[in-house]
Amino acid sequence: MTKRGIVVAIDGPAGAGKSTVAKAVAKRLRYVHIDTGAMYRALTFKLLQAGVDISVEERVEQAIADYRIDMMAEGDTFRVLVNDEDVTGHLRDAAVTAAVATVSGYRAVRELLFTEQRRLARQGGVVMDGRDIGTVVFPQAEVKIFLTAQLEERARRRQIELADRGILRDRTNIVQEIAARDEADRRRPVSPLVQAPDAVLIDTTALSLDAVIERVLALCQSRMPE
Ligand code: DC
Repeated sequence: MTKRGIVVAIDGPAGAGKSTVAKAVAKRLRYVHIDTGAMYRALTFKLLQAGVDISVEERVEQAIADYRIDMMAEGDTFRVLVNDEDVTGHLRDAAVTAAVATVSGYRAVRELLFTEQRRLARQGGVVMDGRDIGTVVFPQAEVKIFLTAQLEERARRRQIELADRGILRDRTNIVQEIAARDEADRRRPVSPLVQAPDAVLIDTTALSLDAVIERVLALCQSRMPE
């Protein structure tokens, strides 16, 4: 099979800017950007909408047996469909954000999404961001980045991002929410958030977005086949 390009895996904690960086890098390389957090959020939204008790793993397992998830490219972004319903507009709902760490800790959920993630990146030419892309989904990815920033800074950025969308939130609340999600992602037994031994760590606390993008692009160029 002819490959469309390399696989670039960007992992890291909540609010580190993974999706923003991944999207910009994909655009520059003319690759596809896949935000795997959006896939976990989409399933979570659908489960909440269906009234499934997400605290009971078996209920979630039963419900998702009938779910099919599709990512549809749309310009430089994409829409997420669960069983043909476009749920893109709900991915950032507060209820989804509060529940997604629980749902993403279940093995059956991860297995369903791994299959789809691996299928989407089979031919390469993708920048995929998440928590476990370089460790579990694509351990053979040509470029692995672990993107992070200090908690306060991540909360500051999230507050600005929310304010841009007309949502005014207290910084202390955001800090607590992000810290709780990081903790859940790091402690879960399946696919915990951890830096792959061969991933390049980039702490973006004191870096501009452009500087981060350039560093990632330089790493990509260095790993491109001749
Ligand atoms: O990146 P995000 O905030 O949209 O991710 C939402 C949640 O999904 C996050 O709490 C952890 C989970 N997630 C995951 O477990 N594995 C991934 N590859 C991506 C996200």
